[in-house]
Amino acid sequence: LQGVVAVDGPSGTGKSTTARGLAMRLGARYLDTGAMYRAATLAVMRAGITLDATRTDAEGHDDAVAVATTADLQMSTDPAEPRVRLAGEDVGAEIRGADVTRNVSAVSAFAKVREHLVAEQRRIVAETVADGAGIVVEGRDIGTVVEPDAPLKIYLVASDHVRAGRRSAEDTSAGRAADTSTTGADLARRDRLDSSRAASPLRAADDAVEVDTSVLDVDGVLDRLEDLAAD
Ligand code: C5P
Repeated sequence: LQGVVAVDGPSGTGKSTTARGLAMRLGARYLDTGAMYRAATLAVMRAGITLDATRTDAEGHDDAVAVATTADLQMSTDPAEPRVRLAGEDVGAEIRGADVTRNVSAVSAFAKVREHLVAEQRRIVAETVADGAGIVVEGRDIGTVVEPDAPLKIYLVASDHVRAGRRSAEDTSAGRAADTSTTGADLARRDRLDSSRAASPLRAADDAVEVDTSVLDVDGVLDRLEDLAAD
């Protein structure tokens, strides 16, 4: 693969597994932009700043914006071993914990944080493509904002029930307490915040191909995406 495949959609649709698996199959690089918003959020929390996780406006949050836009993030784009570093430290596990998950929608709603991270994402993509490699980029606004000219855009969806079940299974395997009903409520809250914020709300690009992952297993989804990438 050369160029960019954009994979967007809400959480629990199997985005990470799918995007990473597709990159492996295509011999491409892989960028998880959610990990960048999560690591920026961790930086804000480590700075001791308390966020109102129910708000999506930046008013009164200049300190959070300053920390999030100057955080020293390093992304490695090898799909076999994707890593996120914050000031040199591997924070891959910590950014998926409940505290960061609770606060990430608030930080990612700040327009200045998005501007900064989108520029970073475009830089990583441009460098990869200049090296002659393809890249699968996963997020919420890749097809609409980050790479609107991507030749292939996928928008993943799944039923609420399947999404909550997947997120609980992920939590359990990561050693965190899980309960499908609270996970479902957390997903619904995050969807609401992500879809209603003023800056780049979650939505499918007009030219995205929608793939429902509720009834397909991982290989089934990957077969379908590989076919789309070959077209
Ligand atoms: O995909 P993941 O669940 O790791 O994303 C965490 C959060 O980061 C999302 O709920 C959303 O608020 C934000 N995000 C975003 N734009 C992206 C990727 C993630 O706003 N491109």
